[in-house]
Amino acid sequence: MRLGPILAATALAALTAGCNRSQPTATANPPAVATPALSEEEKHEALEHLPAPYKTADIANGEAKFALCQSCHTLASGGANMTGPNLYGIFGAKAGEGRDGFKFSDALKASGIVWTPEKMDAWIAKPQDLVPGSKMTFAGMKDAKDRTDLIAYLMVQTGYKPE
Ligand code: HEC
Repeated sequence: MRLGPILAATALAALTAGCNRSQPTATANPPAVATPALSEEEKHEALEHLPAPYKTADIANGEAKFALCQSCHTLASGGANMTGPNLYGIFGAKAGEGRDGFKFSDALKASGIVWTPEKMDAWIAKPQDLVPGSKMTFAGMKDAKDRTDLIAYLMVQTGYKPE
């Protein structure tokens, strides 16, 4: 990955005045949720490569909204399945296939969904509308901008690859 050490150090210095400026670290999240350690610069660089409208999303807001998901989901490669499955590599994957034998509902497995950003938007808006009978107990996120920001964050953190 292209890291641009000077830019990274500048961005980090601006964000974390007083911290070690030569060593980009990303330890803002507790290890229990196994969130990948991306520096601020890496996150912004990853955003640039996302399709619209995600490339201009507010990733800090997306990260904040992920608080609603993180009791059940990890995002990092190799992260644990919890109440919900690990979501690494979710974009482009078929729904309900998950890794490491997570027990999906029959409803999700039979949905035929391939996780595009658009499908993810509908899912986060109201999972039970997209897949009636799913066992994801999340009421839904009404605000469209919050969903866009969250999806951009998910893309960056789960290894989304543009076509
Ligand atoms: C209370 C726990 C819980 C919360 C909170 C939760 N999920 Fe889930 N999630 C699940 C469960 C359980 C499943 C499996 C659903 C099924 O099999 O029907 C799931 C499935 C998923 C899937 C499909 C995975 C696949 O491999 O097809 C995605 C994507 C997802 N959740 C994203 C999210 C996002 C984003 C949030 C936050 C907005 C969230 N979840 C909040 C428990 C949760």
